[in-house]
Amino acid sequence: MKIAFAPLGSPQSGAIAAGVLADSKLTANAAALDKACGGALSRAIEASRFKGKLGQFLEVVAPPGLPNSRVVLCGLGKPAELKDSDVEGIGGGLVALLNKAGEKEATVLLDKLPGKGPSTAQRAAQAALGALLRSYRFDKYKTKEKEEAKPTLARLTWMLDDPKAAAKAFAPMQRVAEGVFFTRDLVSEPPNILFPKSLAAQARTLSKLGVRVTVLGVAQMKKLGMGALLGVGQGSAQESQLVVMEWIGAPGAGKSGAGKTGRKAPLAFVGKGVTFDTGGISIKPAAGMEDMKWDMGGAGVVIGLMRALAGRKAKVNAVGVCGLVENMPSGTAQRPGDIVTSMSGQTIEVLNTDAEGRLVLADALWYAQEKFKPQMIVDLATLTGAIIISLGHEHAGLFSNDDTLSKRLTAAGQAVDEKLWRMPLGEAYDKLIDSDAADMKNIGNRTAGAISAAQFLQRFIKDKTPWAHLDIAGVTWSSKDHGTAAKGGTGFGVRLLDRLVADYYE
Ligand code: BES
Ligand code: MN
Ligand code: ZN
Repeated sequence: MKIAFAPLGSPQSGAIAAGVLADSKLTANAAALDKACGGALSRAIEASRFKGKLGQFLEVVAPPGLPNSRVVLCGLGKPAELKDSDVEGIGGGLVALLNKAGEKEATVLLDKLPGKGPSTAQRAAQAALGALLRSYRFDKYKTKEKEEAKPTLARLTWMLDDPKAAAKAFAPMQRVAEGVFFTRDLVSEPPNILFPKSLAAQARTLSKLGVRVTVLGVAQMKKLGMGALLGVGQGSAQESQLVVMEWIGAPGAGKSGAGKTGRKAPLAFVGKGVTFDTGGISIKPAAGMEDMKWDMGGAGVVIGLMRALAGRKAKVNAVGVCGLVENMPSGTAQRPGDIVTSMSGQTIEVLNTDAEGRLVLADALWYAQEKFKPQMIVDLATLTGAIIISLGHEHAGLFSNDDTLSKRLTAAGQAVDEKLWRMPLGEAYDKLIDSDAADMKNIGNRTAGAISAAQFLQRFIKDKTPWAHLDIAGVTWSSKDHGTAAKGGTGFGVRLLDRLVADYYE
């Protein structure tokens, strides 16, 4: 779908949309359309339940007196209460409606809203972003889809008094959307196509945007002593990989080797990349196991984020580190009871091979700190079913050793409507993973499962590094459509972390 911005005018074909405020108050553009069709819009409003509430839409097909195929009235609610994420939701809802209706092109007429608040140009860009995000669809494996089931909308034009300013505001947003789409593509690919090496190859494509991409294989990881990560992958026919992506965008940064003095310490983002999680020898039940293709969602977000940052040339130094493995049962798989030695030197008793994400992250986190001495570190992982029991699909779990970082992440999440909820950490929880046989075990008891997993990760964080862990198991995949994302991979985390970087680190 193509997005365009243009000066206000009267489009002679396709659908046309305009806003209506709370209590059915027509904006100036909506009132002009109403007049052009002899009051048909006002009559349609009266005959319907549409009241101009936020999220409401009213379609009037081919009204007399207008050349357009249909008019769509978009409920804006009360302008003073209209948040950026609401505006995105309106854009997204409009795209869903137009595709369902079979429209090929549409134009939105934007008014300056009463009261203070973002400019019309900013609102237009925000709505266009929502529209673009909602237009995403993963259909590359559908070869026989019926025409009437396919989305139709090819062009969406936003008309306003200052289209240049809107296009300027939209440009970096579009780069971020490309990052989100990359993440959605990666989590949607089936596990026979997307495995550690092929996922690493996808990450390598970022080099054309100026990201330095390095991939370590099993031999190199063995040398580094990554026994925790390697243990997870040892049952698979697919070789485990560690992907390292560096974006050097901060002003004054030297271009020589990473970690050298004179360059601002980077932000580090670390992702769990289990390309398929059968559970291993502690095998999962068959029902729903196909969902474990998106157990690389954390890595998917880190890769999509790096694409977004490089795409919009963010003025920041950032590294992404992703541990990529496939967790399979086989004659070479690790057993419950195995004790592995992590890169940090700490030993781990593997009591359940299905608690594998934390093993992968243990070595990826340690590597990120040793190699890059980051100023802070955020990891993302579809880590536990327990976080879904705690928070459902509304919030991702946030665990952190740093209040400032937590507040920043929470605020960034609020701003882009990718909400986080902070969960506790503490010594009593940490005791849950003490082992009789090794330094720790990889599962706790049946209580506080998301927290004991986070405690495990914290044992691989050096004391002074501000760190946050996002458990995204409940938000990476959606079984239903909503505002800016159709059902399927959401890309949750890309926009949040891009916003974190933009608001606090650039
Ligand atoms: N990848 C799963 C967590 C998961 C579950 C993600 C559902 C998305 C949806 C993880 O590797 C796992 O299996 N965790 C176990 C841990 C347990 C064995 C301590 C879990 O949550 O049951
Ligand atoms: Mn698992
Ligand atoms: Zn897993």
